[in-house]
Amino acid sequence: MKLLKDKIIQDGKVLSKDVLKVDTFLNHQIDPPLMKAIGEEFAERFKDAGITKIVTIESSGIAPAMMAGLVLGVPAIFARKRKSLTLIDHLYTASVHSFTKDETNEISVSKDFVTCDDTVLIIDDFLANGQAVLGLLDIIEQASAKLAGVGIVIEKGFQPGGKMIRKQGIRVESLAIIASLEDGKVTFSEGAAVR
Ligand code: G4P
Repeated sequence: MKLLKDKIIQDGKVLSKDVLKVDTFLNHQIDPPLMKAIGEEFAERFKDAGITKIVTIESSGIAPAMMAGLVLGVPAIFARKRKSLTLIDHLYTASVHSFTKDETNEISVSKDFVTCDDTVLIIDDFLANGQAVLGLLDIIEQASAKLAGVGIVIEKGFQPGGKMIRKQGIRVESLAIIASLEDGKVTFSEGAAVR
């Protein structure tokens, strides 16, 4: 997706060979027109998949998930990482380990919002080691819902998550795939290096 890649080149900061900072438009401040375009792109790619729900994880997955839900005309549900005052039982839960942050979160989704009648599209902001997606897959399986696929805003193709998920026969659509962050440069998998 050209608009997204241009934004990554323009605003993204390479913090190390593993980490890209995009908090001007995705992880802290959010760029609404870009999110709208991202939602439209996901909706276009999955328009024939019969999606009834979009599922993501708080917090940075919520903006792209909501925009895709708006275009597809379906609800967006975010798995919670922290216990909620009102969300206390009747939950599906899964463990998600973050290698980046070296912490494990228990994520939860109400049984009311994902059921065996649903066809789910998972959306997330980053795909790195794939642990967040695995946790959401676990919840979708517990709910006996059907999976349409996974939509990712930025995939770090040099980390193992994308390969691991695709190997399970799951459709993964990533709007920008980064091949490398070496030497302070963003290199997309199908493009030239850009500083
Ligand atoms: P995984 O889910 O693919 O296994 O990823 P990992 O454990 O490596 O990532 C944990 C958190 O760090 C996730 O956010 C993920 O989106 C984010 N992350 C991973 N790599 C990068 C990167 O290169 N740049 C940025 N900006 N974020 C990255 P989170 O903890 O769920 O945070 P949030 O959704 O609350 O913002």
